[in-house]
Amino acid sequence: MPKKILHMLTPHKHVSPFDANMAADAGYDLILPYESVELTEVADLVQDAIFSRPPAHGTSTTIFFGGDDAILALDMIEAAKNALVAPFGVHVFADPQGSFTTAAAMVACVEKILVAKKGGGLAGRRIAVFGATGVVGYCSAVIAALEGAEVTLVGHSGVQRVRERAAQMRVRFGVEVDSVNGKTDAEKAAVLAKTDIVFSAAKAGVRVLSAKLVEAAPHLLVAADVNAVPPAGIEGVGVFDNGVAIAGSQTLGLGALAVGNVKYQTEAGLFRRMLAAEDEVLSLDFRDAFKLARSLVPEL
Ligand SMILES: NC(=O)c1ccc[n+]([C@@H]2O[C@H](COP(=O)([O-])OP(=O)(O)OC[C@H]3O[C@@H](n4cnc5c(N)ncnc54)[C@H](OP(=O)(O)O)[C@@H]3O)[C@@H](O)[C@H]2O)c1
Repeated sequence: MPKKILHMLTPHKHVSPFDANMAADAGYDLILPYESVELTEVADLVQDAIFSRPPAHGTSTTIFFGGDDAILALDMIEAAKNALVAPFGVHVFADPQGSFTTAAAMVACVEKILVAKKGGGLAGRRIAVFGATGVVGYCSAVIAALEGAEVTLVGHSGVQRVRERAAQMRVRFGVEVDSVNGKTDAEKAAVLAKTDIVFSAAKAGVRVLSAKLVEAAPHLLVAADVNAVPPAGIEGVGVFDNGVAIAGSQTLGLGALAVGNVKYQTEAGLFRRMLAAEDEVLSLDFRDAFKLARSLVPEL
């Protein structure tokens, strides 16, 4: 049997130890880090990897892309796929900063809460994404919009940067999302007045919404927070909460470690899927992560 080899490429100075551990536990024999990799270097690295093994062994080689930029990671996936020369192939997978699997897990958990406790899924729901310029916020916005939700990207440093993200999403994924500024409490309250669901995906340790804002939100069904570092991104949401009412409101909370549990299983599951796929080469991104996460969310 050929060895299962994972080449981990990142534009950063270091590959993520988290991802390396996940890959080792999933069963890779050899995990090799490539750091400070530029987009223009991806094709050469991929071709260097494919020609060293017979085509039938291509499914024993995986190229993984890290970093902290969703668009760059997706561009790297495309560059890798374009570099393949038939009949040679390899699996490709990106999960920059764990964001693809984290976003997938958060959206899948929210969907489960909606279906179980609020009647209906994501389609048509008004979703406000805080931290939308980060990778987790970006991917969760796209996943939800692809599921038919009405998504608003909420800016923290003016509307320009979220507007640019919205334009990128339109071009790349064909989704229309709104963008607004939401830095002050008054601006946040105005956003929440027209919101059914919040995804809170801002920087670790940052409080995005106070309990007062949540209590005053007239339509807020679910408030999801991926920040596990105190204080919680949404006051009143416990890290293990999964569809539990936030004190003083009717809103159901989803906490970072409830999301993290599904995220962890999703990333492990995608590595295992590539290790098991002997007859076809796979290309996996956050849309594949979402499909898997949906099947992993525990019943409520
Ligand atoms: N639970 C899990 O399994 C899991 C896994 C991975 C990551 N995470 C968490 O997911 C969150 C997002 O991570 P990330 O890598 O996507 O992004 P990040 O780089 O950690 O955060 C960037 C986002 O936070 C916003 N932000 C910064 N300060 C803010 C403030 N005071 N108020 C509101 N927004 C603020 C930024 O807005 P500007 O660009 O405008 O500054 C940007 O949109 C983090 O809390 C991270 O720890 C959780």
